[in-house]
Amino acid sequence: VTRFVTDAPTPALLVDRAAVERNTRRMSERMSALGVRLRPHVKTHKCVEAARIQIRGCFGGITVSTLAEARGFAAAGFGDITYAVPVAPQRLAEVMAIGAGIERLAVVVDHVVTVRAIEEAAAAHGVTRAGLAQARLRPPPGRGRSRWALEWPWRRALARSPQVDFRGVLTHAGQSYRARSRDEALAAAREERAVTLAFVERLAEAGIAVPEVSVGSTPTMTAAEDLEGITEIRPGNYLLFDAFQAAIGSCSLEDCAVTVLASVLGRYRDHLVIDAGALALSKDEGPRHVDPDAGFGCVLSADRSVVYPDLRVSSLSQEHGIVISRTGELPGELDVGDKLRVVANHSCLTAALHARFLVEEAGAVVEVWTPVRGW
Ligand SMILES: Cc1ncc(COP(=O)(O)O)c(C=O)c1O
Repeated sequence: VTRFVTDAPTPALLVDRAAVERNTRRMSERMSALGVRLRPHVKTHKCVEAARIQIRGCFGGITVSTLAEARGFAAAGFGDITYAVPVAPQRLAEVMAIGAGIERLAVVVDHVVTVRAIEEAAAAHGVTRAGLAQARLRPPPGRGRSRWALEWPWRRALARSPQVDFRGVLTHAGQSYRARSRDEALAAAREERAVTLAFVERLAEAGIAVPEVSVGSTPTMTAAEDLEGITEIRPGNYLLFDAFQAAIGSCSLEDCAVTVLASVLGRYRDHLVIDAGALALSKDEGPRHVDPDAGFGCVLSADRSVVYPDLRVSSLSQEHGIVISRTGELPGELDVGDKLRVVANHSCLTAALHARFLVEEAGAVVEVWTPVRGW
């Protein structure tokens, strides 16, 4: 590992520690002001060190998106984990094994087949109700979701199952990523709360208690003004942010903690070739609804002191990217052998492509984080 980040072999994933700390502080202040607890999603980085920063001042629970993350974070001492993707019935034995070693592993269930599979797995493993992974119910996306509570009798089966300890409902407002501004994200946050609470009310009418009401995406949780009735929020991307979040108004470009350091391999009349391709940046489409020319990321100077507003990563091959200028003029200082940084569209996908993260403070590498990869 080099002493200075700009000396690192490229492409390299860099994490700005000061931005991570700032983003943590802001979300934690929002959590307190909104009167909810924060169970941050760690899929954005999958790094134990980052999660330890993220849970500062929180109750300590985290959200994961793979069983590999659940296993890795449990081994690192995280005792309260929600696995927030509907669980595959054939992986329930692993869920039981991970859950047995920690205080609580909650799983998401949205089909009666899974409820029955949980009951069978619990019986097969001699797990009692008290020891079983707790289940959450996830309303499907779209409008009119609250009707589901009564139309789908399996929800009662879930809530009344002798083996399943029904804890509550969980949703993620993925539609908030279609917002074009903070105001539209706020509208998505209001809808997320309203739909979830209407759903909770229908369950309550059917005699099903809902102790935990968990919502949250980064766009809605950076915009929300009122979360009364909600007990928990689960944003994750806010820790690192990215070019997409900056484009829809969740953050500024300076708040983006993850950048990919790349070298210029070629300079031509109207474009540069860099050594960061789809396997260093990811091909996430980005905020095309806000900027049809968003391409695959924004370009900064290697030391981050300059933002090039007219430069865009316009296309990606496996191992190289093409940078063009909206004005047709390329900056003179970016020539073959020079370095630059890319703020990619989607930090979660970009980070997942890298086996190590170089953590920087004032330009120096201060730590190396290793994510929990795989499934
Ligand atoms: C179920 C669930 N909860 C929370 C999150 C975190 O949301 P965000 O990435 O918007 O911060 C996600 C992200 O996809 C998710 O799928």
